[in-house]
Amino acid sequence: MEHILPPLGYAYDALEPYIDVRTMEIHHGKHHQAYVDNLNKAVAGKKELEEKTPEQLLRMLAKVPEDVRDAVRNHAGGVWNHTFFWSVLKKNQSKPKGALAEAITKEFGNLEKLKEEFGRAAMGRFGSGWAWLVLNKGKLEIMSTANQDSPVSEGKVPLLCIDVWEHAYYLKYQNRRAEYVANFWSIINWRKAEEYFALAMGLPLPMKPEKTEKPTAEQAAEQPIAKAAVPTAAAPIEKTTTPVTAPSGTKKKAK
Ligand SMILES: [Fe+2]
Repeated sequence: MEHILPPLGYAYDALEPYIDVRTMEIHHGKHHQAYVDNLNKAVAGKKELEEKTPEQLLRMLAKVPEDVRDAVRNHAGGVWNHTFFWSVLKKNQSKPKGALAEAITKEFGNLEKLKEEFGRAAMGRFGSGWAWLVLNKGKLEIMSTANQDSPVSEGKVPLLCIDVWEHAYYLKYQNRRAEYVANFWSIINWRKAEEYFALAMGLPLPMKPEKTEKPTAEQAAEQPIAKAAVPTAAAPIEKTTTPVTAPSGTKKKAK
């Protein structure tokens, strides 16, 4: 069994002009692919690891043999974090609604306060890493992680995240991380975050599935693993027709 790169679920130019097509091509096609490849190398020959999904690996880091623990941490994290990141990006999704919106108001006061705190986490992460909105024991929390560390390893449930590695924005924004972070609010898939929230909280799934364009037969044939991408623990069942899929682990294919 080997890990494979999950399809993006939308076109590389779908997030223009906030994230440019070239950045997306390299980020998904090269960087994400490299994490997949390096995770396969890290677990090769270790039967107890080879069968695990990236999410399972991230949850059991302390039990991973020391000689490959750092590699598994970095590359399983790189695989899972990016797959999750792609799933929460989409244009024209306006604002959070329903139970998630209520929880945001309760925890932060309003959406603007959440944005401020999230922005500080994204800007305050020195070097490479991520900022996250997570559920921690049922409570909304903002945090950041270094490198490819993931909240999943801490038992938290991600709802949103932003990649603040330079590879995520440098081609378009160069050193202007603040501008990239500010534009992030224009490409959040709030419907997906609401779904993750509902699943983690044991609530009914919010609203009707989004209307998305059906892929053509040719597109479907080009992305045969799209339906097989594995969901997160927070989202065990993909119930919407949203093309992005939650990551619990990159789907594996048999050798
Ligand atoms: Fe990245």
